[in-house]
Amino acid sequence: MVRVKNYVYVQDFTKEEMQDLVDLGLLIKAHVKAGYHLNVLNQLTLGMIFEQKSTRTRVSFETAMTQLGGHAQYLAPGQIQLGAHESLKDTARVLSRLTDILMARVIKHESIAELAEYASVPVINGMSDYNHPTQALGDITTIYEHLPKGKNFEDCKIVFAGDATQVCTSLAIVTTKLGAHFVQFGPKGFQMKEDVQEICRENCKKSGGTILVTDNEEEALKGADFIYTDVWYGLYESELPEEERMKIFYPKYQVNMDMIKKTGNDCKFLHCLPATRGEEVTDEIMDNEHISLVYDEAENRLTAMRALLVYFLDKKDETIKICKKNLGSKRSKLCQVKRSSN
Ligand code: CP
Repeated sequence: MVRVKNYVYVQDFTKEEMQDLVDLGLLIKAHVKAGYHLNVLNQLTLGMIFEQKSTRTRVSFETAMTQLGGHAQYLAPGQIQLGAHESLKDTARVLSRLTDILMARVIKHESIAELAEYASVPVINGMSDYNHPTQALGDITTIYEHLPKGKNFEDCKIVFAGDATQVCTSLAIVTTKLGAHFVQFGPKGFQMKEDVQEICRENCKKSGGTILVTDNEEEALKGADFIYTDVWYGLYESELPEEERMKIFYPKYQVNMDMIKKTGNDCKFLHCLPATRGEEVTDEIMDNEHISLVYDEAENRLTAMRALLVYFLDKKDETIKICKKNLGSKRSKLCQVKRSSN
């Protein structure tokens, strides 16, 4: 099978490839949790370019490289020549000679697209203003781990409440690709752009999933299996002052116990984090052990990064062989995503 060159867009992988990556991530996770070490990325280096701050993305990439026997270099904003003295094209070409794989968190999506165009090593998007692909892989991993009893991924209703951020875009694209029922519950003016909705509709034609964008509370929430939200302060450039964002989103789009009850379901809560407690979500939901999956979700950023690094550095077959041999009968059932017949 031909390896995908980069992961710049959530759409870069097919449904089957995404499921394979979830399987791979869960297999490595089980292997790590069983106390085994993997050294498959020995002598390999990840270059990490950050134009913006990060906790989860930076730490999970770096931890993943360490755990797999490789090394990660943090290239902080303003600490490399990129921008002031060197073009993106030259940076891509030079870093391709000095590292084995690159990731970047960029302000503008065009930057990651250009980096991928000129780099000869694989490039992974650590978030742009358009989408957040590694978040999407971690999120579907978490959903697979917490599927409602008796349901497949394709049976789930996944509601994103609030602003159509890049995380919302990513979740919409990946869940419709996998055949689930996605809803963005958001106010007009903060709903997903038509081009993103079109991608989702095309995904649904192939997968049997559905997509709905609405500000109708009942239609959006009824029967939801998962409610996801993200901050209300918008994307980098269009950050809204607190008073303005509260006027737009509060209280209708805040995830609180009232909203969870309106689903009429044993609904679970997801958030990419960081969360602004008291705005898009209450403490009562964030800290609710029965409802909130946010820390499992944060941990699965690492699950996703390990899978992506092993995949892009061509160590997938070797890794699967080692993990299966070591885990033997201890292999968790979760190591195999359930594929439905369609
Ligand atoms: N969710 C996420 O990307 O977190 P960081 O901004 O901390 O990386």
